[in-house]
Amino acid sequence: DRLTVCICGGGNGAHVLAGLTATHAQTEARVLTLFEKEAADWTASMKDNDFIVTRKNKDGGLVRLKAKPAFVTNDPSKAVLGADVIILCVPAFAHEQYFEAISPFVKRDAAIIGLPGQPGFEFQCFDILKDRARTCAVLNYESLPWACRIAEFGKRVDILGIKDALIGSKVVGRSHLNFDPVTLLQSVLGARPVLELANNYLEIYLMTKGFAHPPLMYAKWKDWDGEPLKDRPLFYQGIDEYAASCLCSVSAEIVATARAIGRLRPDLGMDGVEHLERLLHPMKATDDGRWVPDFNNRYLSEDVPYGLAVTKGLAELAGVATPVTDEVLAWCQEKLGKEFIVGSELKGKDVRDTRAPQAYGYRTLDDLAAIL
Ligand code: NAI
Repeated sequence: DRLTVCICGGGNGAHVLAGLTATHAQTEARVLTLFEKEAADWTASMKDNDFIVTRKNKDGGLVRLKAKPAFVTNDPSKAVLGADVIILCVPAFAHEQYFEAISPFVKRDAAIIGLPGQPGFEFQCFDILKDRARTCAVLNYESLPWACRIAEFGKRVDILGIKDALIGSKVVGRSHLNFDPVTLLQSVLGARPVLELANNYLEIYLMTKGFAHPPLMYAKWKDWDGEPLKDRPLFYQGIDEYAASCLCSVSAEIVATARAIGRLRPDLGMDGVEHLERLLHPMKATDDGRWVPDFNNRYLSEDVPYGLAVTKGLAELAGVATPVTDEVLAWCQEKLGKEFIVGSELKGKDVRDTRAPQAYGYRTLDDLAAIL
């Protein structure tokens, strides 16, 4: 039997997924984008054109995969009805809208996959889908499988690079799927990236690479005088001793959180890893061709509410003091115009804008372990 896969989103990643899922013999691909214009443009484009995903093969030649999703719509009742797999492939700030949209139509024993999910994905999913989510498997992958860019909207997308491996987690709840969602996703993706499963969903939160961005932004720009720069500074290579120590400290606090959780709840395995990818600081060009830091970039706008604030929340529940995380968070929240922490406590008026466990009323590690 063919499985129905609903891909949520209309961006780079959603384009690739739509193409790969459509080429796969065992799946029907549908696309849900909540932007009416994206749905209309993509549909119109496929009427007269092929839908193509390109990637390079080993000897540098270009492989063109040609296959159209069954349909693209902004109507969740059409896209989600009967879907066996629902994949969210949008930036984390858009997850809430997608969860709201799909909620009435998700069937029992479906798989809901965050690709990427980012920390707090499960909390938000359970909060919005309520009991319905407990009858589904919820998977959360740490990143997108590829570096990819749309060449022509609704027509062609290029895979520029493919990760070797991708780690995710799976919360089974009370679901009884008649297929293995990881095996299915792997067969859609092909040989790479190799999908791996973490011990549990909390481990994925603490393994997030996004945690590195807020402290590095803080260290680089905390004393910035507002004067535009001639060049864009290198992101990781430009790390000075202070930034490095700041990053190391936050990382140590996250590792301490993982150890404390493992000690307090030995049933929760916690041996995560972390590595860094990006090279340039996120900057905005000024009119005269110089550069100023872009504090609205996702290094802060995503990696704080769906990253560092979540690990801070876990630390609080595990009783771990995080003085450097607190210092970084205090600076970041000011740049974001938010109040997440007050002193060392995650109790600011905007905590609900994060996906920390506290935002959803989880008070103890037992509450979190009950989700598994
Ligand atoms: P993208 O930037 O192409 O996604 C934009 C799409 O998201 C839009 O076309 C729209 O469909 C949806 N969207 C955006 N804002 C929305 C809103 N306010 N309400 C509803 N829908 C909205 O994202 P992309 O490139 O597909 O990446 C997805 C995620 O993967 C992001 O979190 C990104 O940071 C991450 N990522 C992307 C990589 C890439 O090479 N493209 C590489 C590694 C990670």
